[in-house]
Amino acid sequence: PTLKFIEASGQTHVVEAVVGQSVMEAATGHLVPGIVGECGGCCACATCHVYVEEPWCGQLDPPDEMERGMLDGTPGVTARSRLSCQIKVSAALDGLVLRIPAAS
Ligand code: FES
Repeated sequence: PTLKFIEASGQTHVVEAVVGQSVMEAATGHLVPGIVGECGGCCACATCHVYVEEPWCGQLDPPDEMERGMLDGTPGVTARSRLSCQIKVSAALDGLVLRIPAAS
């Protein structure tokens, strides 16, 4: 599946992801700037924060309690915020569009 990342500057990165990996892994594997994945995907750093674009926002599994708790303490959080390490790539996500928060 193809994922599209849009930086705060408008620069876009189209990435071919592998089913079963996380969106964070797809981004870091392709050196998408602004997604760091410092904790390696265990929901403990929030350096993989992204905004999910419509219409995808309502189509993902909602964040679990741990992810919500982590997002709570993350600057710039909106209703579309997710931790990309908690989004699992599936064929159904082909075309998913994610915006990367401006560097803080
Ligand atoms: Fe650390 Fe997602 S990679 S919370």
